[in-house]
Amino acid sequence: MKEILEKLQERREEAYLGGGQRRIDAQHAKGKLTARERIELLLDEGSFEEYDTYRTHRCTDFGMQDQKITGDGVVTGWGTINGRMVYVFSQDFTVFGGSLSETHAQKICKIMDKAVQNGAPVIGINDSGGARIQEGVASLAGYADVFKRNVIASGTIPQISVIMGPCAGGAVYSPAMTDFIFMVRDSSYMFVTGPDVVKTVTNEIVTAEELGGASTHTKKSSVADKAFDNDVEALAEVRRLVDFLPLSARENPPKLPVIDDPERQDESLDTLIPDNPNMPYDMKELIGKIADCGEFYEIQEDFAKNILTGFMRLEGSTVGVVANQPMVLAGCLDIDSSRKAARFVRFCNAFNIPILTLVDVPGFLPGTSQEYGGVIKHGAKLLFAYSQATVPMVTVITRKAYGGAYDVMASKHIGADVNYAWPTAEIAVMGAKGATEILYRSELGDPEKIAARTKEYEDRFANPFVAAERGFIDEVIMPRSTRRRVANAFAALRTKHVEVPYKKHDNIPL
Ligand code: HXC
Repeated sequence: MKEILEKLQERREEAYLGGGQRRIDAQHAKGKLTARERIELLLDEGSFEEYDTYRTHRCTDFGMQDQKITGDGVVTGWGTINGRMVYVFSQDFTVFGGSLSETHAQKICKIMDKAVQNGAPVIGINDSGGARIQEGVASLAGYADVFKRNVIASGTIPQISVIMGPCAGGAVYSPAMTDFIFMVRDSSYMFVTGPDVVKTVTNEIVTAEELGGASTHTKKSSVADKAFDNDVEALAEVRRLVDFLPLSARENPPKLPVIDDPERQDESLDTLIPDNPNMPYDMKELIGKIADCGEFYEIQEDFAKNILTGFMRLEGSTVGVVANQPMVLAGCLDIDSSRKAARFVRFCNAFNIPILTLVDVPGFLPGTSQEYGGVIKHGAKLLFAYSQATVPMVTVITRKAYGGAYDVMASKHIGADVNYAWPTAEIAVMGAKGATEILYRSELGDPEKIAARTKEYEDRFANPFVAAERGFIDEVIMPRSTRRRVANAFAALRTKHVEVPYKKHDNIPL
């Protein structure tokens, strides 16, 4: 018996070595952790239950029958994050560059199936040279099997991708279909075709970092949601993210003990809005003052900064936040901000996360680049996402809510449950100056007359009371009381239930 146990231990140790010490050292020399070290950091200590440790590939081409490495380049199983179950796969770059074989794909598919069945998130740690070249179409088929499962799991369980090495070809499309992508600066890359192919086909000379590094994908392409300096930081942040999320669409988000007084008032909010309506202020200050302990977990903070998206807690429960940011482009909606916010709203709705919308929006950004880029279709995404959402929605208008952007930003008309406005709110078709110039074009030569017309328009519309008189705004609130008001509104909506008519699925403008 002792010998049998020793044999098992030996086989385990062999598996734990992956592609061998030399390759592990090379991985460390690049500032990267190994697949198993990453899992250890991600999960609660000692919680990892591994599956398929001993699986190997079945390829016999290119002498592969003599190169079998236990586990075949991916470590899979489940464990816990702060006591809550998650499934995980972690690609091992020391084994054939983490490339995906038929067997490697089957291991990933197995835990994905279990995750959907048992209602727990999947976290994929990606570090892979793409399809295993020696296996040809078998590895392509393996990728497709993973893709199909990504889509089946979408909206059912949260899926989080962490990119911790090269991800080329097929390796990018599975992450692309997950809910969140985190990258590591200077050691992770995502591209459909690498710099060499780019040079051959287009003559462009570009580095891997420029083409598909963390900065490119968090700032330019918006493929990735967050970037971190190293593996340790990235994995710690995945743990933080998971703490905000329900395990599946069948559950509500977790509720932490209430440690911050929901009644807390903040008098500084009474003076947050500058006297000059064209002066910006930082919407993050308001978010921090509403949130439990001031904590705001921002998503896509480096992209489309004119809108803020992320998670906070109120009375210990997760709330998704969408907020115009007057500090950037005056908080205008445009193509990028509409896409960013629409995707976030849909994530929250899919996973029963209530949405708080903070509004200070002068309208959609005008111009040919926006129109040629399809702002109509992209703006419609946000309108569609809010209109479709059935989770509790609370909206606070702090200042401007002009034109179509008023409708889009979770107005009562498209489904928000409780709509508050600060006394500084201005709800109108457009700003006073623009409106006067259109309505009184014939008087434009007379500045005095125009000034009087502008004043008249401001007096009538630059306030929240016209909307409040119609019931479009439920109450005009003191800025200092916003946290209490919003927390109470969400508390009243906890049992909200909405029936939607039968459909196979909607047809959101893509
Ligand atoms: C098999 C691979 C491999 C692959 C790397 N290796 N990629 N083995 N299949 N796809 C092996 C290498 O032979 C090497 O083995 C080890 O992994 C480490 O690779 P290096 O090149 O030494 O490492 P590095 O210099 O860090 O470069 C990493 C890399 C590069 C950028 C990923 O290896 C690379 O460009 N690989 C090919 C990428 C690629 O074109 N993949 C196919 C994409 S097409 P040894 O034994 O020397 O340690 C695709 C189609 C799917 O994925 C489409 C679905 C829609």
